Amino acid sequence: MPTLAISFRNVFYTYPGNEDYTLRDVSFDVALGSTAVILGGSGSGKSTILKLVLGLIKPESGVIEVGGVDISGLQESALMPVRAGIGMVFQEGALFDSLSVAENVGFRLREHDKLDEQEFEERVSRLLGFVELGKFYDRAPSDLSGGQRRRVSVARAMAHSPGLILYDEPTTGLDPITGSTICDLIVKLRDLEGVTSVLVTHQLRDAFQVVQSFVMRKNGAFIYNRIEDVELLVGSEFIVLNEGRIVFRGLQRELFRSDEPYVRKFLDGQIPVSVIETEGD
Ligand SMILES: Nc1ncnc2c1ncn2[C@@H]1O[C@H](COP(=O)(O)OP(=O)(O)O)[C@@H](O)[C@H]1O
Ligand SMILES: [Mg+2]
Repeated sequence: MPTLAISFRNVFYTYPGNEDYTLRDVSFDVALGSTAVILGGSGSGKSTILKLVLGLIKPESGVIEVGGVDISGLQESALMPVRAGIGMVFQEGALFDSLSVAENVGFRLREHDKLDEQEFEERVSRLLGFVELGKFYDRAPSDLSGGQRRRVSVARAMAHSPGLILYDEPTTGLDPITGSTICDLIVKLRDLEGVTSVLVTHQLRDAFQVVQSFVMRKNGAFIYNRIEDVELLVGSEFIVLNEGRIVFRGLQRELFRSDEPYVRKFLDGQIPVSVIETEGD
């Protein structure tokens, strides 16, 4: 059994037509069951890292392992089982507006799993229940608020029970309270379902909420707790990217102490990030 969900070793990547490297000598590991937070300004290469994990693009050099499998040189067909173990929450949620909420959530189940109608409904209802949107089964995504749509995309990413979920700026464009419900879902998937997560974000508040919270199930209710003292935190690693290079890797308390100039600017809110209009809940 591999103990790492993801391993990057000296990965370089350039988009066709671009002169400069988009990623330069990127190395990091994500342990099974853990959360990794990738921080960086707009254009620093965060989404590119996720595309590489999914095998949508190939590294120019270096090695990428997902679930212990070296995917760097794999053909499309060999990538299918690797992708089957990964769920992706895209930037902006990316729902299909012509499909109902249920069909969005069950999209992959329709494609890959041969479920009869009753099994499909049960699975999708369970997933919508997890994100607390059971009532919205037959609705159109356009009837939902921004936060609800984002929760639907989390349910869709969970549909095939992946061991690894990649979140690309899942709270961007949401107001803080709605964003915090998405963070709670990430924690719930990690702590109750054992899902390994990679959280790409430029919202420090959300990153801190995810790594400092933990949830337990008690008498049918979910109880969230927060570790306020970051000295006590173990596990979740922060990775800070600047222009395709990793300038910091470490725990939250080490992030706070870092004197790396880009990290300091990031913590002080001085790094320009893509801003999208807020959608309320
Ligand atoms: N499909 C593409 N073709 C060419 N350049 C791209 C493409 N996608 C992203 N880039 C460039 O790669 C860099 C990193 O992009 P990206 O990984 O999307 O950054 P982030 O997600 O951190 O905002 C940016 O300079 C961007 O312009
Ligand atoms: Mg991006």
